[in-house]
Amino acid sequence: MNFLDKLKQFRDYEEQLKWEGTFADYLELVKKNPMIAQSAHSRVYQMIISAGVSEKDGHKHYHFFDGQIYGLDEAIERLVEEYFHPAARRLDVKKRILLLMGPVSGGKSTIVTMLKHGLEKYSWTDAGAIYAIKDCPMHEDPLHLIPPHLREEFFQETGIRIEGNLSPLNAMRLEKDYDGHIENVPVERIFLSEDKRIGIGTFSPSDPKSQDIADLTGSIDFSTIAEYGSESDPRAYRFDGELNKANRGLMEFQEMLKCDEKFLWHLLSLTQEGNFKAGRFALISADELIIAHTNETEYKTFISNKKNEALHSRMIVMPVPYNLKVSDEEKIYEKLISESDVASVHIAPHALRTAAVFSILTRLKESKSRGIDLIKKMRLYDGEIVEGYNAADIKELRHEFPDEGMSGIDPRYVINRISSAIIKKGVPSINALDILRSIKEGLDQHPSISDEDRARYVEYIALARREYDELAKSEVQKAFVYSFEESAKTLMDNYLDNVEAYCNSNKIFDPITGDEVDPDEKLMRSIEEQIGISENAKKSFREEILIRISAYARKGKRFNYKSHERLKEAIQKKLFADLKDVVKITTSSKTPDETQLKRINEVIARLVDEYGYNTTSANELLKYVGSLLNR
Ligand SMILES: Nc1ncnc2c1ncn2[C@@H]1O[C@H](COP(=O)(O)OP(=O)(O)OP(=O)(O)O)[C@@H](O)[C@H]1O
Ligand SMILES: [Mg+2]
Repeated sequence: MNFLDKLKQFRDYEEQLKWEGTFADYLELVKKNPMIAQSAHSRVYQMIISAGVSEKDGHKHYHFFDGQIYGLDEAIERLVEEYFHPAARRLDVKKRILLLMGPVSGGKSTIVTMLKHGLEKYSWTDAGAIYAIKDCPMHEDPLHLIPPHLREEFFQETGIRIEGNLSPLNAMRLEKDYDGHIENVPVERIFLSEDKRIGIGTFSPSDPKSQDIADLTGSIDFSTIAEYGSESDPRAYRFDGELNKANRGLMEFQEMLKCDEKFLWHLLSLTQEGNFKAGRFALISADELIIAHTNETEYKTFISNKKNEALHSRMIVMPVPYNLKVSDEEKIYEKLISESDVASVHIAPHALRTAAVFSILTRLKESKSRGIDLIKKMRLYDGEIVEGYNAADIKELRHEFPDEGMSGIDPRYVINRISSAIIKKGVPSINALDILRSIKEGLDQHPSISDEDRARYVEYIALARREYDELAKSEVQKAFVYSFEESAKTLMDNYLDNVEAYCNSNKIFDPITGDEVDPDEKLMRSIEEQIGISENAKKSFREEILIRISAYARKGKRFNYKSHERLKEAIQKKLFADLKDVVKITTSSKTPDETQLKRINEVIARLVDEYGYNTTSANELLKYVGSLLNR
């Protein structure tokens, strides 16, 4: 019901936005709001910035791409600043074909799709409104009706530059139907739509033998030639190629360099003069943004061919590398999983992160100049603080390999491996180890990985696993302690009692046996050794602590285990070390006794309630950490 209401609401809204009038009416609209007459390039740019721009660390972030594209801020900033913005201002780049060049599954198509969908939506807004000569198959810009000799004057009056000539079809209609009276030509508001082929086009190369240039520029309509008498009558031509249909908006040229040469040459005049040739007509002006994409290998082959020089100089090549940040890679996987039919599967904490660590490692290049290992480099790129390195180092590292991010494992591969792991396991729960295993198995079947890379990747799987091991261990240890603070306090009180007795050469009262006993040297040493206090230094350390306690007492302050930085460290380490045995025994016992069982259940409950596991993944985690600690 609700849904049907919405449908009706939308229809009403559509009705409301429709506009139709004469060219004279349209001129009034333009005078009031010159933005409706902006070029396609300008519209794309306005659309992007209207979604918001923020600045961080001297880099711009364009919110238009939020939620779909992660970790490509720099590539996008470049794209906007070196192409969209200058093109919007009618600078020369506008005439060039925009070529996105990057590795497979690096987000090129996603960027183009976002622009297409964005434009569709934008054309429904006031700011993005577009008008066209009514019933024109190319949705021609009504301002093309203004004859060239009046355009300078029009510019003086309105500030709008008119580019492009009236198309042959509309020129004929103007003469035949409106007697040359441009003010009477009907104009309508249009709404861009890929489905309806209004202002959005897609061209993808197919078999060069069967593909016809008509797919790009339209073709003669043989059924109407008889009616109009001649092939050069524009009414006997179907302006239904992708270039025609994408006029006023955007055309995606998929895998452009896979395309037959004759198609590419066709684009030459388009890129030079902003027009293209169709049938036997004068050149047709095109107001559209052409975005093509390709991968690096094809691009290199293309530019190495001298014959392509002319075309090459008419392209703007923008690199779209892989994301290089672990946290963003994780978001990409989350997005892809949420869109897939395995969205309901439980993914254990750190599982996607671990896969992301692996992926990023395959994309990074080992620094030659900075003596930094890959893991540290990975952390730095992800915005973590790494001792000994600062922002300037990151910049330097980034510049060391301009093509970093152009190779490595692609996100789609990882997602495929995750899906296959889920299916194979048959349990609706998957963890980091399942994913790493699946990634490893998949490497053998991967057709485009060299043996050398495969060996390297196997090493990275081991590195990613080591990163995960640390996370897994500390998570379990934390979950084992009911109250970490309380345990720390008890241990410290015990230590201080013994230290006091030791320094004063006293005995200590054993609450269990009721005997007076010597201070527990073993206990004290087990704590001190955690922070490397030697046998020779123990006495002064203990005295120092007593002095600190009395200083606190004099000031009326309570001494706790956090009052002494090194003591605090020692206590924490000792707790973890003690725990190690409990965790080890509890988690690895094949036949846990009653207390162990109780403990295990408590820990699992805590992992589920506080750490985001489910019972399956929590049990798996415990088992794994048990095996780690037993190594
Ligand atoms: N940086 C990224 N941010 C968000 N999603 C990404 C990113 N890179 C890749 N993806 C996702 O990975 C999948 C593949 O990306 P996409 O199809 O856009 O790549 P492509 O560069 O066009 O690849 P191909 O060369 O194979 O055509 C998509 O679902 C895309 O959303
Ligand atoms: Mg693609």
